[in-house]
Amino acid sequence: MRIGSDTLSFSILNKVGGSQMILVTGSTGLIGSELLRRLSQAGVPTRALTRDLKKSREVPGITWVAGDLGKPETLRAAFEGTKTLFLLTHYLEDMVALQHNAIAAARAAGVTHVVKVSAFAASDHSKAPIGRWHYHVEKELQESGLAWTMLRPHHFMQNLLAQAEYVIKEGVIYSASGDGKIPYVDGRDVAAVAVATLTTPGHVGKKYVLTGSEAMSYRQAAEIIGAVIGKPVRFIDESPDESAGAPRARRSSAGRHRERSRNRRLSACGRQDGDDHEHHRRAHRPAATDGRRIRSRACGIVPRLNARNDPGARPHPMSRRCPSGCP
Ligand SMILES: NC(=O)c1ccc[n+]([C@@H]2O[C@H](COP(=O)([O-])OP(=O)(O)OC[C@H]3O[C@@H](n4cnc5c(N)ncnc54)[C@H](OP(=O)(O)O)[C@@H]3O)[C@@H](O)[C@H]2O)c1
Repeated sequence: MRIGSDTLSFSILNKVGGSQMILVTGSTGLIGSELLRRLSQAGVPTRALTRDLKKSREVPGITWVAGDLGKPETLRAAFEGTKTLFLLTHYLEDMVALQHNAIAAARAAGVTHVVKVSAFAASDHSKAPIGRWHYHVEKELQESGLAWTMLRPHHFMQNLLAQAEYVIKEGVIYSASGDGKIPYVDGRDVAAVAVATLTTPGHVGKKYVLTGSEAMSYRQAAEIIGAVIGKPVRFIDESPDESAGAPRARRSSAGRHRERSRNRRLSACGRQDGDDHEHHRRAHRPAATDGRRIRSRACGIVPRLNARNDPGARPHPMSRRCPSGCP
């Protein structure tokens, strides 16, 4: 699926018609912030929800609104007048409750279509709680009477950035995935697919598995990052128990998927029953290989490495973008 073409702009205008407001949840996060940028660029009327308006940032054409999916009483005004919902939250224990509240608020407000970010391999028999949680929300949404589209992305490439500290301090990357290969997907590609499903017709009742075009192991990713930063990076093949006992910082992002890693010794791409087998590869940049993408993510580590070697330098914040302008 190509994004950013004239065809897309035409379709967006046809569906949205300048009046069908989209409500974006998760708008301060990895996918949501890129989604807002793209919707803004396309001129799509959009409202962005956050619990804390201090986190909002100026994006042309985007209206920020305060609301907490954990507090249904804060949602009525936020949802009122919207027609399409982009549903995403973090994936902590309260995810099912938060997304349940969002679906209820959407129904009450007269929303007609919900695009939900779920996860690869969401199922009722997933050994990973996250897979089961997403499955439960998917089921509720499917039974809600609302039109729905599920996006089921694989492991985000940006998870690798959570290992920056270990790369810099110890020259290592940890994972319990062994030599299992992962078709990492760039979060920006997930946002690109979201724009298409939110604004063009033909996606109702579909489940899209989103992967990159190339599966690679953490060991291979470590080699690529080492080559980019000019310093060897070793891959440490942890046991699942070691991974479970890993510091919070690592677990909270790259390691957040350790339970899935534990179960799979990853296959390149796991199709689930009911998935539309459309792997939206390279949604907006078909030419880039994922090796190149990992290289570009690795560039995010370089400024921090430099800041460490030169304490006078201003450390670069934990950026999800390559500060050197890599694709
Ligand atoms: N990481 C992966 O490899 C991977 C793979 C497949 C699927 N996924 C799925 O992707 C999703 C995470 O996407 P992401 O990385 O873009 O998210 P993220 O960067 O972690 O951002 C989480 C967002 O959730 C919002 N949120 C949390 N609690 C909320 C509440 N009570 N009310 C309203 N908003 C709330 C936050 O908004 P505020 O703080 O501004 O309120 C924030 O914008 C999860 O569902 C995960 O299962 C991740």
